[in-house]
Amino acid sequence: MKYAIIGGTGVYSAGEGRTINVSTEYGDVDVDVLEINGTEIAFISRHGKDHSIPPHLINYRANMKALHELGVRYIYATVAVGSMNEDFVPGDIVIANDFLDFTKVREHTFFTGGEHGVRHVEMSDPYCKNMRAKLNALAYNEGVKIAGEGVYVTTEGPRFETAAEIRFMKMIGGDIVGMTNVPEVTLAKELGMCYSAVGIITNWCTGMTTEIAGHDIDATMNQRKDTLTELFVKVFNDGLDQEHCNCADSLI
Ligand code: HPA
Repeated sequence: MKYAIIGGTGVYSAGEGRTINVSTEYGDVDVDVLEINGTEIAFISRHGKDHSIPPHLINYRANMKALHELGVRYIYATVAVGSMNEDFVPGDIVIANDFLDFTKVREHTFFTGGEHGVRHVEMSDPYCKNMRAKLNALAYNEGVKIAGEGVYVTTEGPRFETAAEIRFMKMIGGDIVGMTNVPEVTLAKELGMCYSAVGIITNWCTGMTTEIAGHDIDATMNQRKDTLTELFVKVFNDGLDQEHCNCADSLI
């Protein structure tokens, strides 16, 4: 099975299918196996189907290892995000093209020394450039507006940011903020998998407006999630390869 979708907040399924339990050395993972228009697609709900796992306690290594063991090489992930960029308004779709990492306590690598070895992963294109280009092109053809690409700031959560933190993150180049994309994206790269994260703006970041961030996350996700998963499936149905990116060759 080459293709997978990871559903973030508000995206708890991508269609009807069977659920399998995959055992990895980092833990067991429930994976839905869907068949859509003849293409097999694995689906993981990042926070659990009942949204019971907070961002800092997600077993990122088990999730990514499970997908890799199933043969997955291409992953689209949805992320609910706040916007600190005036050009990206609630409801917009934004494709991550780089990240800033403010996480603190996560298991963030498979290369922990000893039998697991010591390797470093190259980060000039953390998000697969080929998958981003394909999604942009397909969205254009289908008439789905992508507001643009932007830098994803990952915070540790589960709390939201202060207004001072957002001013700082904006100043150093952040566009959108969420609590989960690191280490998901970096672990994918350590395993040689292509990975692209697509954000749905659910709120203005703290301090960007007078309204309190976060109240409308579920409503916004509900409006946009089917559009996104349908786009992902269309890219998968068209087919992907690793000839136009360096994702399979990023270890140093
Ligand atoms: N901050 C952090 N994570 C988020 C936000 C936010 O404003 N919105 C959705 N996820």
